Amino acid sequence: MIVPEERVRLGIIGGSGFYDPDFLSRTKEIKVYTPYGEPSDMITVGEVEGVKVAFIPRHGRGHRVPPHRINYRANVWALHQLGAKWVVSVSAVGSLREDYRPGDFVVPDQFIDMTKGRSYTFFDGPVVAHVSMADPFCEHLRQLLIEAGKAMKLQIREKGTYLCIEGPRFSTRAESRVWREVFKADLVGMTLVPEVNLACEAGLCYASLAGITDYDVFAEKPVTVEQVENVMKDNTQKAKEILRVLVRELPPEPERCGCCASLKNSTI
Ligand code: ADE
Repeated sequence: MIVPEERVRLGIIGGSGFYDPDFLSRTKEIKVYTPYGEPSDMITVGEVEGVKVAFIPRHGRGHRVPPHRINYRANVWALHQLGAKWVVSVSAVGSLREDYRPGDFVVPDQFIDMTKGRSYTFFDGPVVAHVSMADPFCEHLRQLLIEAGKAMKLQIREKGTYLCIEGPRFSTRAESRVWREVFKADLVGMTLVPEVNLACEAGLCYASLAGITDYDVFAEKPVTVEQVENVMKDNTQKAKEILRVLVRELPPEPERCGCCASLKNSTI
């Protein structure tokens, strides 16, 4: 059972390389049980700038869970259980365009789903729901993230289409060209879907903070894990600072968006 002092305002999902909740103070680790099984790891509840925050590393500490095996339903459910109304999802992505460079951040406004067989919904029957995905991210939270990045004088891109592949392998050259030239996607990653879909179904205000680690393979050289890891360390430190600045401006409850109401029009 979740006790009142464990209830949080913001949930943070850490991506590759972002496992350490060292940016939280007064921390407590809690195990959350969900109807969907176990989340990726224990959840750390603590404070940032006096605001209650829950942190979960999406791949588990030490990167034990690959993208296609992540229990996205359990992770999102757990944050919802803890009372989070806002969720920031941090991830490492590849760039599909020259002007979005490694080391830059992007706050995506659209996604394309190229995953193959994940658990995409909380509504597996007998209750059926069809949530709108036209605007998948919380616009209010997106703007707060963009303002936080700008306040830190970081290169933060205000728009981008994130194409989610199944992984765990990277794309072929032919695929990368299709993502870029045919689909006109800007970023490629492995974990946004179905996290974003589930957050929407749960009525959470969800936005993604995507840190570019590499140019995808449309550029000459194939992506390597070493390359991704090198840039990722730097990006992770910057992401923690962005979150610290964001939290100072984060209202207790969402007001200006329709995210929490998205379910109202979706059940049949
Ligand atoms: N994560 C980081 N870089 C990536 C890439 N190029 N493709 C897919 N996922 C990634």
